[in-house]
Amino acid sequence: MEIEKLVRKNILQMKAYSSARDEFTKSAQEMLFMDANENPFDSGYNRYPDPYALNLKAKISEVKQIPQENILLGNGSDEVLDLLFRLFCEPYKDEVIITPPTYGMYQVLAELNAIELKKANLNVDFQLPTESILKAVTSATKMIFICSPNNPSGNLMSVQSIKKILTSFAGIVVIDEAYIDFSDRSTFTNELNFYPNLVIIQTFSKAWGHAGIRLGMCFAQESIIQLMNKIKPPYNINQLTQEKALAVLENHSTYKNQIQMLVSERELLANKLTQINWVAKVFPSDANFLLVQVDDANLRYQQLIDFGVVVRNRTHEVNCKNCLRISIGTPDENLYLMDIIKRLK
Ligand SMILES: Cc1ncc(COP(=O)(O)O)c(C=O)c1O
Repeated sequence: MEIEKLVRKNILQMKAYSSARDEFTKSAQEMLFMDANENPFDSGYNRYPDPYALNLKAKISEVKQIPQENILLGNGSDEVLDLLFRLFCEPYKDEVIITPPTYGMYQVLAELNAIELKKANLNVDFQLPTESILKAVTSATKMIFICSPNNPSGNLMSVQSIKKILTSFAGIVVIDEAYIDFSDRSTFTNELNFYPNLVIIQTFSKAWGHAGIRLGMCFAQESIIQLMNKIKPPYNINQLTQEKALAVLENHSTYKNQIQMLVSERELLANKLTQINWVAKVFPSDANFLLVQVDDANLRYQQLIDFGVVVRNRTHEVNCKNCLRISIGTPDENLYLMDIIKRLK
């Protein structure tokens, strides 16, 4: 597959921003920096950060067993998603396909970038409607977004369906694995060598516990990563984030333990919720939240707010009538939630 054929022409033709520091060859310690109009007095943060976050990428590469050349970092996965739109989709001309109910930013970014959005709704069991997706493809379709585990339904998508789409579609297939660490399924990053059109997104905001530092990861073949590097804001990962993320990765075991606890809390909470008489269904989840169908989502949402608990009302999403999405809290928070829920009439 020739990736260049999918890329916007202006991006292939444009010259990337280059700072003088991109051109120096000696190590940073040996240089006197008088090129970037920074304040020279050392505050620990007076210099611009490494534009490619190479130390951080080296650590991510080691932890995830993915070569550095296949990694791009973004200011949250939302920036990664935006870069993908801008790299591949020509405004007012190209199309993307999403599978509602799914993460809302795909639609927001399509609208922001003036890209036609085609929807192939997930089946009632929230699985991919593979044939409808492939039927919706036209010569203008550049990307298909698959969220697995899916937000808000919480389920993993069938591997067989994903592979069928990867092999049948001649554009980019983006698999958003924001919640993959909460599932037993192995990541699609293991498949990068087999599918040149595969782009995977992960994040520090969920299992890695650092939504506040805004760090998203993109894994793809090297030519895609190079083009994304060309168009990303030069210093998109700030110094504080680079340092904090390195510390987080060094502390791997803390997050492994938290994930285990959240997964067991998820199962416990699901069990308890099914015993509530106004709960109609708790959908199986491979993520750190539960989609729960109740008798009246608007009423239950408001009652929980009155007790100071904020959940997400998803009742207007496709196939989510009267559904609330509840994030798994700490064991104490979950006990508190159940305490309130048991009292609601
Ligand atoms: C499926 C999915 N992708 C991406 C994101 C955004 O991640 P980030 O915080 O890295 O921008 C979210 C956040 O809720 C999400 O649910």
